[in-house]
Amino acid sequence: MARLSDAFIDDLLARTDIVEVVGSRVPLKRKGREYSAPCPFHDERTPSFYVSPTKQFYHCFGCGAHGTAISFLMNYDRLEFLDAVEELARRSGIEVPKETRQNNQDSDLRDQYAALEAAAKLFQRQLAESPRARDYLDGRGVDAENRARFAIGYAADGYSTLKDALGTDERRLKLLERTGMLSKNDRGHVYDKFRDRVMFPIHDRRGRVIAFGGRVLDKDASPKYLNSPETALFHKGRELYGLWQARQANQKLERLIVVEGYMDVVALFQHGVTQAVATLGTATTADHAELLFRNAPDVYFCFDGDAAGRRAGWRAVESVLPRMKDGRQAFFLFLPDGEDPDTIVHKEGAAGFDARLAQATPLSQFFFDEIGRDTNRGTLDGRARLAERARPLLAQLPDGAFADLMRQELQRQTGVDTNRPVAEPARPASRGSAPAQKRSLVRSVIALLLQQPGLGLQLEQPYRFAELRLPGLPLLLEILGVVRQRPEISTGALLEHFAEHEQAEALRKLAAQALPGEEAKWVDELHDAIAQLEEQTLRQRIDELNQKQRAQGLDETDKYEQRMLLQALVRRG
Ligand code: UTP
Ligand code: MN
Repeated sequence: MARLSDAFIDDLLARTDIVEVVGSRVPLKRKGREYSAPCPFHDERTPSFYVSPTKQFYHCFGCGAHGTAISFLMNYDRLEFLDAVEELARRSGIEVPKETRQNNQDSDLRDQYAALEAAAKLFQRQLAESPRARDYLDGRGVDAENRARFAIGYAADGYSTLKDALGTDERRLKLLERTGMLSKNDRGHVYDKFRDRVMFPIHDRRGRVIAFGGRVLDKDASPKYLNSPETALFHKGRELYGLWQARQANQKLERLIVVEGYMDVVALFQHGVTQAVATLGTATTADHAELLFRNAPDVYFCFDGDAAGRRAGWRAVESVLPRMKDGRQAFFLFLPDGEDPDTIVHKEGAAGFDARLAQATPLSQFFFDEIGRDTNRGTLDGRARLAERARPLLAQLPDGAFADLMRQELQRQTGVDTNRPVAEPARPASRGSAPAQKRSLVRSVIALLLQQPGLGLQLEQPYRFAELRLPGLPLLLEILGVVRQRPEISTGALLEHFAEHEQAEALRKLAAQALPGEEAKWVDELHDAIAQLEEQTLRQRIDELNQKQRAQGLDETDKYEQRMLLQALVRRG
């Protein structure tokens, strides 16, 4: 992917009002120079989420979420980087510069979306023309409304229906190949991948068709389901079938129900349970878990009641544990042998299915049931084994009440103390009002630069304090270097630049603080601090010369330097 220039990003962020961007999604309240709200990224009652219009970044003192307007859109709206940039550019009416390569790539993706949309439309027309396919869907109880909602279609029997309709020239044919809609035989002949199948389009978060699943109509044909391969548009570990429809059908999603099959989702919607999604023939991935909880606080996983179902359930546990922030809940529902959500909801209706969900096993219980499955809690060895297995998994839980309770439960079951002290997050209430912390000089200079990176342009080069051997000085010089190169850079973008730096966390904390004192005085404070650093540099060099004098004596140049240094020091005093 072509990289947008830093200058462009800086300019974009400079023209963006992060308060407006965040404020149109989260109810912000003004607090002094900043704005705050309950954090949209974790559950809390007292607001510890702050947005700073001057620093152009947001920061949560509770969960540590932070970033620029770009990262906010990426995290909150779940946009890709370029989409977030485009969204902001549109708001500020500026053009996103694109390299030709980027342009080509973008337009190819656009063409792929269009081709898949056209394929979906073609399949829908073919469904209308196929009594056999319509009978099949009638037989499974899918009505017109839900056929339309899921854009269900039918791929006619024959090797080149789609190919002839959409692959009308060489370019289109190649395009269709890239979307995964065609197969190729040994002799290089290209033909329709989906033939005589009921077609379920898979939509992305914006409702665009990105892939298909196709089901045979005959009972014994195989494979029963054929799915699009991974393509530039489709990564099955990151998509959930039905999520688009669930979001369309619900103002606010209070829950999501994860099932295994396309038809399970469709049948649940058909019976009024409009919060169902399916993983696409894969185990629940970390991306799935993140996507699920981003969309709803409560997630129910449905599995077969057999051993394979339990294994799949455990994989889901592993993927959700690191995401169990307070306010989120996961439940596990195991269905009777031979049943799936489709058959259950047909037999028992939405009420029956909901009744089962109400009885679903909470994550905590499923966790301890499974982890202790083949260990004997009656023996010391068994309990030790249980604790050993549980500890690394529980360590993945985000800090919070749920993590505390899980560790307490483990302790209750095993007698092993696995509680570790949990650091209290800095309380926003103490910000600024706390007695000014005694900070090192370097630290205060960095803090000032983080508040207002542009201040760095005030310092003359070469920096006389560059020689100083102090912790943090190399970082300070690095920051100044970035500010020189990117004079427009905002605090948010500066933090982004140092996101991978070993001091990134410390920088974020410094940046998030509200500095005491008036903004107008910051320039003076900076110059004062720099003057002190320069003085320390003089003293450092004088000390060096003194040491040399004691060790081996000074030559003429050394003596001259020493005199000049002492004079400079006196002038300063
Ligand atoms: P199931 O075999 O449980 O089928 O596959 P189902 O959903 O109950 O299907 P119906 O009710 O007979 O129509 C569950 C899911 O596993 C994937 C599909 O995503 C399917 O929805 N699968 C299954 C495949 O990808 N290929 C297959 O051959 C079978
Ligand atoms: Mn089924």
